[in-house]
Amino acid sequence: MSTRKPGPVRAEPVEALSFLLNLTKENAALRQAQGKRLFGFNRTKNRSSDTRMTGPTPKPWIAAMTPYKAGRAKTASGGPVVKLSSNENPLGTSVDAERALSEARGSLARYPDPASTALREAIAELNEIEAERIICGTGSDEILHLAAGAYASAGDEILYVRYGFTVYPLSAQRVGATPVEAADTDYATDIDALLAAITPKTRVIFLANPNNPTGTYTPMTEIQRLHDAMPPDCLLVIDQAYAEYLEPDEAQAPLELAHNASNILITRTFSKIYGLAAERIGWGYGPAPVIDALNRIRAPFNVTTAGQAAAMAALADQGFVAKSRAHNRKWRSWLTNRIAAMGNAGLRAIPSEANFLLILFEGKLTAEQAYEGLMERDFITRWLPGQQLPHALRITIGTEDETRGVAAALEELVAAHL
Ligand SMILES: Cc1ncc(COP(=O)(O)O)c(C=O)c1O
Repeated sequence: MSTRKPGPVRAEPVEALSFLLNLTKENAALRQAQGKRLFGFNRTKNRSSDTRMTGPTPKPWIAAMTPYKAGRAKTASGGPVVKLSSNENPLGTSVDAERALSEARGSLARYPDPASTALREAIAELNEIEAERIICGTGSDEILHLAAGAYASAGDEILYVRYGFTVYPLSAQRVGATPVEAADTDYATDIDALLAAITPKTRVIFLANPNNPTGTYTPMTEIQRLHDAMPPDCLLVIDQAYAEYLEPDEAQAPLELAHNASNILITRTFSKIYGLAAERIGWGYGPAPVIDALNRIRAPFNVTTAGQAAAMAALADQGFVAKSRAHNRKWRSWLTNRIAAMGNAGLRAIPSEANFLLILFEGKLTAEQAYEGLMERDFITRWLPGQQLPHALRITIGTEDETRGVAAALEELVAAHL
């Protein structure tokens, strides 16, 4: 029986020596020349043309990834803009959160609490869930990646709906798993299509509710149906980045479902209604073994001290959250009506429960023309050809002036293309 303890596999010194002895003279000379260049002496003028220079090769599944594309923050001219491309809160953040953030600057030299203890307790209290079953992350993006990393690898499949959040395929590719897309029904999540796409290799299912970029909402009865029929050894991640834009009862229902389930992970964020996107804070709630697995692979100090303090202050200011939700509801419905009035020009807004609208361009004015035209008028929106939506723009609900402004600009563009 082997007495070797489990641990990292190391090259034995003997192997390393014989490897060195096996180097041909030619190889050794080449390595010496490369070494000289690496350390800065014997420099050639045109180093980039040196084809012998080799470096580490990323894993093929990493090389095949298309990096995440963030919403633009500047127009082509770089002038002042109205940014409606990243689903941020147009009202900013709670003044209490701003204050907490600046006060936390006093402790810059100290590492943050690695377990985000006080923040987890505050989240638990507000949502009536257990703090031990919560994990905080560098944005909810980190939690999504951790879920993929803990439960899937090469040979496994990660499933989500077509027009799902772009991080889902990235999280699969990052760990060498296969991203699998289920068909939608008129841009909304189709639970039957998801169920039909499950195979014995499916390890994680991502479902955003409301979904980004479509804004569509899947009723809880449908999510329950998916959960009842899916294999129990497969993890269902319900991504609630936009939960607080729903009625509070609807927002909390997935947490209740997760409470007694052994395979549901809920993710939430402080980047949207809480207006703390710059600080990168998110959280997840799941069964203790799932949270334990994610904690094993997360970075130890993944939420900054200022971020933890700001998030706690933001949680305590539910007045700001309610104000943001009411603002969003009013102006989302206003913009939806204005788009409906442009229906004869082929514009159609997908019904949204989030803080943005996905607008389809099915007439003379194309989504690309609208995107460029809005950009010329200083409105940055999100055109989505990379997400199989070259015929659509996603527009975040802004302030009253911004929303009125973008609608007027769209009407001008429609009129010019009749
Ligand atoms: C559906 C969805 N999930 C997760 C995220 C990630 O948000 P964050 O990493 O800022 O928490 C976003 C951000 O746009 C999103 O739209």
